[in-house]
Amino acid sequence: MIRDPKDLKRYTASERANHWVIGICFILLALSGLAFFHPAFFPLTMLFGGAVWARILHPFIGVLMAIAFFIIFARFWKINRMSKVDVEWLKRANEMVTGDDHNMPEQGKYNGGQKALFWSLGVCMTLMTLSGFLIWRAYFGFDINLVRLGAVVHSAVAAVMIAFIMVHVYAAIWVKGTVRAMWYGTVTRAWAKQHHRAWYRQVTGK
Ligand code: HEM
Repeated sequence: MIRDPKDLKRYTASERANHWVIGICFILLALSGLAFFHPAFFPLTMLFGGAVWARILHPFIGVLMAIAFFIIFARFWKINRMSKVDVEWLKRANEMVTGDDHNMPEQGKYNGGQKALFWSLGVCMTLMTLSGFLIWRAYFGFDINLVRLGAVVHSAVAAVMIAFIMVHVYAAIWVKGTVRAMWYGTVTRAWAKQHHRAWYRQVTGK
């Protein structure tokens, strides 16, 4: 059964909608951004109605993603504050990746890796948004040196962010039972007990 009444609630509908807006915008931005970055990816502009439309739409989708990201950031930053347990988790992450999760410290709603990624994405999104405005020549981009600086920062941070999101999506698929949290908003008790035991105790009182 996909959903059980005993499942635990992890996300509200509005949090999931917020996240999906970010995810969809991110994919559209990566596809159109890569098309501007290298001629090999240029055919991707066809997905947006041609090169001119891709060029017009990309920054507007970027603004939408930035707004949605900073909303989710405001919602989740408190719960993503690093604690000693998270540092311990990060130190032992290698053991877990190689198949031994017996010594991993109990985790709250998010583990050290998720928290580290959260703050890294906050830095990336800030840089992407600021540099994006600098190179948006239809409305901004007043100074050519700033446009040049913005273009370097925007492309370098985009490459880093694409790598981070690949890790994020891979981890969501790798840890079975996680992706459904973003579809239905719920996770099984077994999942919570296995991966986020401190959060499991907190929400169930057990
Ligand atoms: C594009 C495909 C994406 C997929 C399939 C995906 C999947 C997921 C899943 C399953 C979770 C829940 C993890 C959990 O509750 O333990 C999650 C959480 C989250 N995702 Fe994504 N995601 C995607 C893109 C993004 C993007 C582009 C961003 C931001 C730039 C993002 C930011 C977040 C944040 C902030 C959380 C909450 C975790 C935290 O606060 O530490 N996601 N994602």
